[in-house]
Amino acid sequence: VDEKLDLVAEIQKLKKEKNAVILAHYYQEAVIQDIADYLGDSLALAKKAAQTDAETIVFAGVHFMAETAKIINPEKKVLLPDLKAGCSLADSCPPAEFKKFIDQHPDHIVITYINCSAEIKTLSDITCTSSNAVQIIESIPKDQPIIFAPDKNLGKYLIKETGRDMLLWEGSCMVHEAFSIERLLDLHKKHPKAKIIAHPESEEPLLKTAQFIGSTSQLLKFVKEDKGEEFIVATEAGILHQMAKEVPNKILIPAPSNEDNTCACSECAYMKLNTLEKLYLCMKYESPEIILSEEVIEKGRRPIERMLSIS
Ligand code: 13P
Ligand code: SF4
Repeated sequence: VDEKLDLVAEIQKLKKEKNAVILAHYYQEAVIQDIADYLGDSLALAKKAAQTDAETIVFAGVHFMAETAKIINPEKKVLLPDLKAGCSLADSCPPAEFKKFIDQHPDHIVITYINCSAEIKTLSDITCTSSNAVQIIESIPKDQPIIFAPDKNLGKYLIKETGRDMLLWEGSCMVHEAFSIERLLDLHKKHPKAKIIAHPESEEPLLKTAQFIGSTSQLLKFVKEDKGEEFIVATEAGILHQMAKEVPNKILIPAPSNEDNTCACSECAYMKLNTLEKLYLCMKYESPEIILSEEVIEKGRRPIERMLSIS
């Protein structure tokens, strides 16, 4: 790409020319968040994807999010700036093994966290996100046994919150497992007034230290509405960009990750594969595009629509 090209201006032009909408997750780099038409958590972005009348959806997020948008909109073109923008949590649930697991428990209903592949969604009864998981679980009759996959940390947290005894798949997110509890407690000693807030993909010891636990949009809402002035934020550091914009006078500190993590804060390497340049190129050449078989779209749509009808 020509260095002199004003990528932001070019992207705006392409958006109009191609009747495209840019949906971005809070973990994207700041410049991408700022150029997006809609910024949100997984649930809000899935809802936006369901409502848009644009011909093309450009998904500045990770692969499973773009797949979800495609499943809801099979007739639309869905672009992802880098197809390698995957998710360690989605990868921790391979379809063949998961199929065996659910076949061993045929009386269980299968609830999957939206952070899973389209193929896993075809094996699910209903999906959820961290924004609506409690509501989705509570919509299932109390005597109905449940499999919850793929995130064991979110699963354990939800068992506590709902009192439901769910069978968990052993998956996890490498970003949220990279936080160091020792470093976090040291940091908190230096900032005793700071409130620790965390995403429920984090491990149990960290969640025990948190005064508030929620999805990215719930964390954002909390720092806006809470009277506190200082927060230690235990989720991917990209969210701090939007938080700083919305509460410029509050002190926001990213939770520290463990020593072998090269970044001082936790960044999702997959999310950060998308760059402004790749966003421009994917809109210009309408590639890479998310392509799914008709069968995957048909079977994958049911659990997503069931979720959207409830929340
Ligand atoms: P949210 O739905 O809370 O935005 O989470 C998405 C995600 O990938 C968390 O790691
Ligand atoms: Fe997946 Fe974790 Fe990255 Fe979220 S932060 S996209 S769960 S690897």
